[in-house]
Amino acid sequence: MRVSVTGSSGWIGSVTVDELLAAGDEVTGLARSDASAAALRAKGAHVHRGDLDDLASIRAGAEAAEAVIHLANKHDWSNPAASAAAERAAVQTIGDALAGTNRPFLLASGVAGLTQGRPAGEDDASPFHGPESPRGGSENLALEFVDRGVHTVALRFAPTVHGAGDHGFIATIAAVAREKGVSGYAADGTNRWAAVHRSDAARLVSLGLAKAPAGARLHAVAEDGIPTRDIAEAIGRAFGLPVTSIAPDDVQGHFGWIGTFFGMDLAATSTATRELLGWAPTGPTLIEDLDAGAYSARPIRSS
Ligand SMILES: NC(=O)c1ccc[n+]([C@@H]2O[C@H](COP(=O)([O-])OP(=O)(O)OC[C@H]3O[C@@H](n4cnc5c(N)ncnc54)[C@H](OP(=O)(O)O)[C@@H]3O)[C@@H](O)[C@H]2O)c1
Repeated sequence: MRVSVTGSSGWIGSVTVDELLAAGDEVTGLARSDASAAALRAKGAHVHRGDLDDLASIRAGAEAAEAVIHLANKHDWSNPAASAAAERAAVQTIGDALAGTNRPFLLASGVAGLTQGRPAGEDDASPFHGPESPRGGSENLALEFVDRGVHTVALRFAPTVHGAGDHGFIATIAAVAREKGVSGYAADGTNRWAAVHRSDAARLVSLGLAKAPAGARLHAVAEDGIPTRDIAEAIGRAFGLPVTSIAPDDVQGHFGWIGTFFGMDLAATSTATRELLGWAPTGPTLIEDLDAGAYSARPIRSS
């Protein structure tokens, strides 16, 4: 299949491209730099130059493909509204380009805020609608295109897609720990985070492209919920730092923007996804990655 991948140079996108190529797909990656373009060509992928801020380039990439996997995101944490607006505009543009074709449109999403007080499941529809909502309400916007002849599939990634070289949430929390000289967790640290290894996440995307029905919500979740206190303790071990509770009123001041997420319960299940796709995660757990030095290049050896 000729697959267009936005975000093909990113943490998840770059290994997704590898998975797709290995599965025999013909991949065209959206690239906005010469370095990203060269990396794609070196793998045997094609290059489409473009930018989320150039919607004509996003439309052209979608129109030329038999399937679109949308993983690009500005991730401007100092201006989440701008990231959300760009995300919504890209999803609208790709959906319009694919309308009436029944072609697959897989898009990145997350599990934050789907449920309160219990793990999120695939049957839990996103409560986020409209441009002012998190991620610009892009998951629901994309799913609305099912009625317009688009084979939409939502890829809900765990809040940490972890592994060596990760520059996402866990790397940010580890950076705060190093800067503050203490590895913190919010309150009693019983709020939990789902997790998935990067390799398992990329395999899920490839399987989702091949097998998921239109309208599916897939959960890239290998571990349903790791207490954030356990995560903070592993970060403390990795960097040789003391571990401490941060009072709820001090969480934002201590952690900055990542505190909003690290203080949330972001547990999720993936039972339906595993049954639907025959997906079985095999990668290391988050704590195993932290203890192996994936974030610190400082393996912890039990004595
Ligand atoms: N990683 C996680 O733990 C996680 C968890 C939940 C959800 N997600 C979601 O999954 C998706 C992929 O995440 P990721 O971790 O792979 O992200 P990432 O490593 O930050 O990569 C972002 C990608 O978006 C591209 N991009 C950024 N701004 C762009 C622009 N203006 N125009 C075109 N492309 C642009 C980047 O290209 P350049 O290389 O040119 O900058 C890069 O390829 C995102 O939607 C993310 O929010 C990720």
